[in-house]
Amino acid sequence: MENGLAFIGAGRMAGAMVRGILRKGSWEAGQIACTSAADGTAEALAGETGISCTYDLGQLLSGAGWIILACKPQQLSQLSAELGRLGRGKLVLSILAGTTIERLAAVFPGAANIVRCMPNTPGMIGAGITAFSPRSPLSSEEERDVRNILEALGEVVAMPEERLNAVTGVSGSGPAYVFEFVAALRDGGIAAGLDPDTAYKLALKTVQGAAALLQAVPESPETHRDWVSSPGGTTLAGLAVMEQAAFRKTLEETVLAATRRARELSES
Ligand SMILES: NC(=O)c1ccc[n+]([C@@H]2O[C@H](COP(=O)([O-])OP(=O)(O)OC[C@H]3O[C@@H](n4cnc5c(N)ncnc54)[C@H](OP(=O)(O)O)[C@@H]3O)[C@@H](O)[C@H]2O)c1
Repeated sequence: MENGLAFIGAGRMAGAMVRGILRKGSWEAGQIACTSAADGTAEALAGETGISCTYDLGQLLSGAGWIILACKPQQLSQLSAELGRLGRGKLVLSILAGTTIERLAAVFPGAANIVRCMPNTPGMIGAGITAFSPRSPLSSEEERDVRNILEALGEVVAMPEERLNAVTGVSGSGPAYVFEFVAALRDGGIAAGLDPDTAYKLALKTVQGAAALLQAVPESPETHRDWVSSPGGTTLAGLAVMEQAAFRKTLEETVLAATRRARELSES
């Protein structure tokens, strides 16, 4: 039975997936192979993890049950046409942002099933969240494999494909909004008289700690906010400025703009 994993692309995301999969022990290094373009990423990943690498697609796919597409979306059209033929009867899992199942099915017309995923960058340290949408309902074995592959990046949620643009708007692009928030909190600290290093340390640890508290004490963010906002106090003075500057509306518009852009890109 062919149950190996064949990675097309061996960059940052593929590397994070391979390392996470090996850490979990769901597949062994001998069952995983990768290929890349010509920049040496496949050799580097193979050297570091013990998986194999090859530029021969027939060899790459010979023991594979799953083809994992992890190149850049714009590189999809450069993939060899031979892949479609060699991928017949295999399962395809794609992490290519904005690439629809319909488009993937045109590249892999004979695939047994196709799963489109939307991971995010914290996946690179196993702290991500990935949404996945299958073309046809997954068998229990397929779903187990999908979860075993994607849990290497963190948490996993099933989602109808039409919601993946909204997922992109929230969790796909979301890390950048949080980075921006940390930078703004740091700059606020500098404006208030702190040195840049201290301001950054305080800002980063505050975001980390607040997120961890939210997870550990499962009350709503609004409840947590109210717990730290005493009447006439410092936090309320700050929150009043956020409200005046329409912070929530701004973030809603941010998510909607990213969602719209994800839709445009996946339709182009
Ligand atoms: N980074 C993220 O946080 C994130 C989040 C969500 C989704 N994604 C998706 O994840 C995918 C990979 O992103 P990444 O950051 O890991 O990219 P990356 O580090 O640039 O890796 C791309 C890999 O694809 C290989 N490649 C390029 N052309 C190829 C070809 N014709 N055949 C086989 N392999 C080829 C590259 O090989 P060479 O190095 O040899 O050129 C490289 O190993 C993207 O589709 C992106 O949309 C990423």
